Amino acid sequence: TFIHSDRDEASKLDVFEEGAIGVNSEGVIEFVERDAKDVDGVVDKHPSFKDAEVVRTESGRRQFFFPGFIDTHIHAPQYPNAGVFGSSTLLDWLNKYTFPREASLSSLSVARTIYSRCVARTLSHGTTTAAYYATIHVPATNLLADICSAAGQRAFVGRVCMDHKDINPDYYRDESADESITNTCLCIDHIKKIDPNYELVSPIITPRFAPSCTTEALQKLGKLVKETGLPCQTHISENRNEIQLVKKLFPEYGSYAEVYDAFGLLTPKMILGHAIHLSKKEMELIRSRDAKVSHCPVSNSALTSGGAKVRWLMNGGITVGLGTDVSGGYSPSILEAVRATTLVSRHVALSDGDECKLSVEESLYLATRGGAKVVGLENKIGGFEVGMEWDAQLIGLELVETTGDEFSEGDAEGEVVDKVVFEGPKSAGPVDVFGWETWDDKVAKWVYNGDDRNTLGVWVKGRKVWSRE
Ligand code: GUN
Ligand code: FE
Repeated sequence: TFIHSDRDEASKLDVFEEGAIGVNSEGVIEFVERDAKDVDGVVDKHPSFKDAEVVRTESGRRQFFFPGFIDTHIHAPQYPNAGVFGSSTLLDWLNKYTFPREASLSSLSVARTIYSRCVARTLSHGTTTAAYYATIHVPATNLLADICSAAGQRAFVGRVCMDHKDINPDYYRDESADESITNTCLCIDHIKKIDPNYELVSPIITPRFAPSCTTEALQKLGKLVKETGLPCQTHISENRNEIQLVKKLFPEYGSYAEVYDAFGLLTPKMILGHAIHLSKKEMELIRSRDAKVSHCPVSNSALTSGGAKVRWLMNGGITVGLGTDVSGGYSPSILEAVRATTLVSRHVALSDGDECKLSVEESLYLATRGGAKVVGLENKIGGFEVGMEWDAQLIGLELVETTGDEFSEGDAEGEVVDKVVFEGPKSAGPVDVFGWETWDDKVAKWVYNGDDRNTLGVWVKGRKVWSRE
């Protein structure tokens, strides 16, 4: 069984229950058979697949393949901090938790531990592509690229630029704009060496956010974006105090978005994290430049940043994907971000109207096809079509479908309590708690009740990179 988002209609899941997909040795999908009850018939039609390895979903409508998740905004060095943010908001959170943590990756052995755990964990949650912020450190950033490459995760790896002396702490910043550029280029060169065509791992130019960069650095980074044609990522309009800070630091520009635009950073390859408090004019500017937005609802809730108006952005014509924003976000799971997307949209709906509610299907679209567009890979990943690459996860619903039997009398260790019997006025008789659902219902149960235990296997570019066994 294969389930993916419809290419054109974000609110629709396309399900083919007894299909077959042929993936060649390059990881590229060669055929998609929507009705393939017997494998022999499929092989007759595609003889070059005669000796292919066959991976089957279990019969009984409890397993399905789904496209791998795309995390369009995650800070790998912050992974150990996931869940630790107290009652802080963005600017004090950066100083209290984030900068000290990131500074610790000046040690390559610290970086190795953190980055290998982060990549393994995101893979286990079905994240087949991630746009990573690393730190200012060149050796550690290069190591993150090496680890992604070895683990087989598709990744954009960004060496973070932050040279402003008044905003960044002395113990963790670039000494100059030139240092931002030189060190960014060293990381680009490293990835060029390990993955010359950026097939799996690509560099991404990463000014942390406008306040952390001097005018000179932003100017030079804009030039580098133009010269290299590389993607770029940063933060925008996440927090009200941050917006005030941008006003103070860049008084000559009309808005936060105009600061990035002035330096040539608003391009179709720009990924803007958060975009919560944009004015209509900023939204239209971002749209006119075709810059993309990474929606990070878990982080935006945790740090009290606000609820991004995703429907408004989408109606405005902006391309949106999802990000975990670890560790502003407390979870490395995009499934959790999908769940938070639907919930935050409901809070937004309370003030802005019911049409703001995002469905499970739409949120899954953002996590796959939307994310693919955000990272510029919509023709390669995010769905199952001929010519695309096999980035997928095998989902099993067994753990969502706990019957409760395993908690019945006698199973628990220690004292056995009397079995509780609920005696209602009328018995409803036997009830099918599971197995009655449509596929859309099953997917909704996965989204709202599932976690990484449901992710049984993960493939990137046809290679199996994670298995639950
Ligand atoms: N703005 C600048 N740096 C950061 C960061 O590390 N995380 C988040 N969420 N916002 C930021
Ligand atoms: Fe972030």
